[in-house]
Amino acid sequence: MTEPTPFPPAHPSPPLAAPPARPGDPPPGEPWYLPTGDEHAVFEAAWAARLPVLLRGPTGCGKTRFVEHMAWRLHREAGRARTALDVPLVTVACHEDLSASDLVGRWLLSGDATVWRDGPLARAVRSGAMCYLDEVVEARRDTTVVIHSLTDHRRVLPIEKTGELLEAHPDFMLVVSYNPGHAAAGKTLKASTRQRFVSLDFTYPGIDAETTIVAHETGLDAPTAQRLARIGERLRHLEGHGLDDGVGTRLLVHAGKLIARGVPPRLACDVAIARALTEDADVRRAITDVCDVLMP
Ligand SMILES: Nc1ncnc2c1ncn2[C@@H]1O[C@H](COP(=O)(O)OP(=O)(O)O)[C@@H](O)[C@H]1O
Ligand SMILES: [Mg+2]
Repeated sequence: MTEPTPFPPAHPSPPLAAPPARPGDPPPGEPWYLPTGDEHAVFEAAWAARLPVLLRGPTGCGKTRFVEHMAWRLHREAGRARTALDVPLVTVACHEDLSASDLVGRWLLSGDATVWRDGPLARAVRSGAMCYLDEVVEARRDTTVVIHSLTDHRRVLPIEKTGELLEAHPDFMLVVSYNPGHAAAGKTLKASTRQRFVSLDFTYPGIDAETTIVAHETGLDAPTAQRLARIGERLRHLEGHGLDDGVGTRLLVHAGKLIARGVPPRLACDVAIARALTEDADVRRAITDVCDVLMP
């Protein structure tokens, strides 16, 4: 058997850790986020007014990164009270089996006794952290009850199993995300839930912004990053024509990271973009054609 040939490095020194710092970068530790509209100002005002925020948009367009960035930023700016928090952001990836108990907490056996263990939402409510419920419509219906009591003037979390009515810490904030692309599958937010939130819409960045994002996240040079951004833009035209899920910036970043580590660009696009998007051979060929034209 012959040894596989390693890919020749496309760049003299591929970034193996964090990409090098660039002018305008945030302080070390703060997740980098490129604003594409007035999301910073709206989020900060919502935070100041203690209003819950809903991030709407397709997968891979920066919602999670934005929340991480804002949690970090508000944590840094808010002074000692918040910087004393162990975790400024508690993220829960919602799924179809996630119930209110998973969020609120449960009794656990400890030797002969039972002890109460707060769930992630209760921990955030108690400590004044930000809680991010990612893809909230995936969760079971019984989670709506706890979300509702936390998102109106009451700001309380009823813990049924212990009888506690937990009042939210003044700094607690609830953020949820929602992908409207899944509405066709019956996954929509009820109006009574949606109307409690300030809504921020996320969409794909334009070519220039996406080039900046891909270059920043991968360490690639601007021309290569721009080719990936163009591929993203072109593939988005295929949405609805065989491509059902959105072509998120995430896919372009993944392809870029492979290229930066020496994977030939067309192979990187195939494994990180085409195969990630579809199982259908014809659609994959259409994607590969676009990549071959734009990625020489
Ligand atoms: N505006 C942005 N600023 C910085 N990075 C971004 C931005 N939009 C997308 N990204 C990149 O795309 C990746 C996926 O974004 P993410 O926030 O996880 O998407 P979502 O939560 O919307 O599915 C991030 O890890 C980041 O590399
Ligand atoms: Mg996300």
